[in-house]
Amino acid sequence: MLSQLVYISVRSAECTDQEIEKILESSIRNNGKIDITGVLLYSDQKFLQVLEGKYKQIIELYDKIKEDKRHKNVVMLSLGSIKERNFPSWQMGSKKISLNDVDFNTRMTDEDKLEFKSILSGKKEQSQKVIDVIKKFF
Ligand SMILES: Cc1cc2nc3c(=O)[nH]c(=O)nc-3n(C[C@H](O)[C@H](O)[C@H](O)COP(=O)(O)O)c2cc1C
Repeated sequence: MLSQLVYISVRSAECTDQEIEKILESSIRNNGKIDITGVLLYSDQKFLQVLEGKYKQIIELYDKIKEDKRHKNVVMLSLGSIKERNFPSWQMGSKKISLNDVDFNTRMTDEDKLEFKSILSGKKEQSQKVIDVIKKFF
């Protein structure tokens, strides 16, 4: 079953920008093999990742990612089935985001920005709304 998992986590101090490069390299290398697509948004403090693919593959990957020392406090925001992929062309699309400078994509309204902040703080759990806001980054 085609499924989607969204989580947020706290970036560890040891997770330098160089480590982010490594994460993206292994994501692109591995995710293609197991037919997983998605996006990874990161700031200096946080990660937000959307994983889409077969349920079993998603859970196995999530279990592996959770153990990664480059982040902590991993919190799943949503897990459910989807009819189609939201990010079909991204083995792992990525964007660096900054919450304070609000250098968001220009298509973000003030309402979107507030929404996004509440997603990153773990308060938002309405998955379609979460995805709609994340899509504006791509
Ligand atoms: C925030 C975050 C997101 C990650 N996302 C992925 C991912 O989508 N796919 C992946 O294979 N590894 C991901 N990783 C890395 C895995 O935890 C693990 O290091 C990697 O899969 C090992 O790959 P390798 O065995 O090819 O070296 C992520 C790690 C972090 C911290």
